[in-house]
Amino acid sequence: MKTFAEDVNKGLSSKFKHLSSKYFYDDQGSQIFQQIMHMPDYYLTDSEHEILQEQSSQIVESLGFDSHFNIIELGPGDGQKTFHFLKYLADNHLPVTYIPVDISAAAINLLTDKLHQELPGLDIHPLVGDYFHVLDENFEFKEDPKLLMFLGSNIGNYRTSDAVRLLSLFGSKMNLGDKLLIGMDLQKNPSTILNAYNDPAGITRSFNLNLLSRMNRELHANFDLTAFDFYCHYNPETGEVKSYLVSLKAQSVLIGALGKSFDFKENELLSTELSKKYTYDQIEAMSEASGFEVLNNFTDRNHYFTDSLWTKVDEYLELPKFT
Ligand code: AVI
Repeated sequence: MKTFAEDVNKGLSSKFKHLSSKYFYDDQGSQIFQQIMHMPDYYLTDSEHEILQEQSSQIVESLGFDSHFNIIELGPGDGQKTFHFLKYLADNHLPVTYIPVDISAAAINLLTDKLHQELPGLDIHPLVGDYFHVLDENFEFKEDPKLLMFLGSNIGNYRTSDAVRLLSLFGSKMNLGDKLLIGMDLQKNPSTILNAYNDPAGITRSFNLNLLSRMNRELHANFDLTAFDFYCHYNPETGEVKSYLVSLKAQSVLIGALGKSFDFKENELLSTELSKKYTYDQIEAMSEASGFEVLNNFTDRNHYFTDSLWTKVDEYLELPKFT
């Protein structure tokens, strides 16, 4: 796996400077993301929350599992999103084991303690580690039917070709008939989408600028945060929100850990994030390309967001190469 320093070196040496949005989430970035999820304009969280809160029984019914099954949630965060769904399972004594998977042991411990307290009837088997490592392992749940959950529109942070590759990889760890519940943000009034990212309080701006602070903290860089601004736009033709940091002047920044300086021109962009919004046709095409079939799209009452339920249909898939 590449390190932060290696990715920074590569991204800042490119003709079009870029950094992966996965680096947003150090402790400070994760805290700012919590604030984003509470912003009224950031409709994604509330919409998905509503779906999982109000349609738990329909989701469970669509799974069609009639014996013990496992729910593997990849990146559960603080468990806010799934809490009502899990409560429904516990209240109805359904034969299920909930397996939250996260790279952060601290996050998993917090979540598990909270669930043990609030849903004592729920069988929980937390796993710490990288998604694929965990899915690869011969743990005892492998043969039982399973539901994989990848919520929060995390898939939207991948380019479509990478998203299909990731989903195919998930599929390669699943048996025929296993299910995937995937949170996807839908295309809608462009202003609604733009307002979710271009917030007037500047919380998303701080979220992006934290990337520079993180390089200052961890890589001994000397970014001047006042010399960069945040810019984002939504293109309704492609369904893409793109976020950038903009250099406000010609400047040279030293990254101590790399022993190297990087030049920024005035108004040069550093690309930080893609947040893709989908049409139902695109969701269908992505499911097919990754070896799944869409069973059902659960949506909120505004039709802003979908938790799309897919079933695995292809036994073996060559990972697609198209971009
Ligand atoms: C985590 N991810 C789905 C968020 C999104 O909407 O793309 C991250 C985010 N970026 C800005 N605001 C929220």
